[in-house]
Amino acid sequence: MGNIFARRPGSDPNAAAVVTGSHLDTQPTGGKFDGVYGVLAGLEVIRTLNDHGIETEAPVEVVVWTNEEGARFAPDMMGSGTHQGSLDLQTMLDCKGIDGSTVEENLQSIGYAGSEPVGEFRANCFFELHVEQGPILEEEQITIGAVTGVQGISWTEYKISGVSNHAGTTPMRLRHDAGYVAAALAIEARTIARQLGGDQVATVGVTELTPNLVNVIAKEALATVDLRNTDDAILKQAEARMAAFVDATAKAEGVDVESRTLARFAPVDFDPSMIALVEKTAGDLGHTVRRMASGAGHDAQMFARNCPTAMIFVPSRAGISHNVDEFTEPEDIRAGADVLLQVMLASAG
Ligand code: GLV
Ligand code: MN
Ligand code: MN
Repeated sequence: MGNIFARRPGSDPNAAAVVTGSHLDTQPTGGKFDGVYGVLAGLEVIRTLNDHGIETEAPVEVVVWTNEEGARFAPDMMGSGTHQGSLDLQTMLDCKGIDGSTVEENLQSIGYAGSEPVGEFRANCFFELHVEQGPILEEEQITIGAVTGVQGISWTEYKISGVSNHAGTTPMRLRHDAGYVAAALAIEARTIARQLGGDQVATVGVTELTPNLVNVIAKEALATVDLRNTDDAILKQAEARMAAFVDATAKAEGVDVESRTLARFAPVDFDPSMIALVEKTAGDLGHTVRRMASGAGHDAQMFARNCPTAMIFVPSRAGISHNVDEFTEPEDIRAGADVLLQVMLASAG
């Protein structure tokens, strides 16, 4: 899958590794912190252990997971999900990106189609350090987030096929306007999120019209819907409402719609003792800390069902992420890495 592993051996040859890691892929319009921070901090943990000549009982391992973002090749968390058995290897390798090429072709072309079998290592536990990517820690002036879990994620792509015609001569009653249906579903996604309230969020991040001309009714439209909630039952309600709306609107407009699930992950709760360890370690180091759920998807959520897992968050300036303006203050970067070092040391013995 192109995942990259770096292991520092421990004194006990039979001990399972204490693992940390994140991802180095980015959104095309993303910043420098999302993912990269967790990988570099993992390397810094290993350097610090080396600098101080510290021997741990368990091995310490740093992993770079392939394609966490999922924007080019859906689903997201592809490398970690395949490694942890939630996603099928061959299906992921065959997955076509937005340019039509497959994951496997790309791994081969960059020399990362490795020879190790996927998922052949045991983890004692997994920690992921990450920027919050939201506004809460900054607003509350808290340095460390002890992450309690990750919300459920549902991605659907809609391909809408209508009929192109003249924008001036075609009466409204005779239109089969794919662009209208795409626009209507974007409005409906927002309405559903507002009406369900609470933690429900909805985003239409892609709309593409063909032929995309001012005076031509669109014959085709592509739209994606990203729905998330910490409560899977409410997320399912949002999905069902969206599907029913698209069906009814397509019928009324006389267009065809093909829908495809790009990603679907249930909400995940992290291990209570691991969350408590992060919280206590941050406090012991003198940092302010609060528990919080993650709004973004993370590789750590793929580990949670297989080994004790937790995440550490640090503040994001103005809560901005998936944007080149993403920024975290150096002292917060340092604080998060210190917490990571200590929780890994406590776990590796
Ligand atoms: C991953 O970046 C996500 O969409 O949460
Ligand atoms: Mn990330
Ligand atoms: Mn991201």
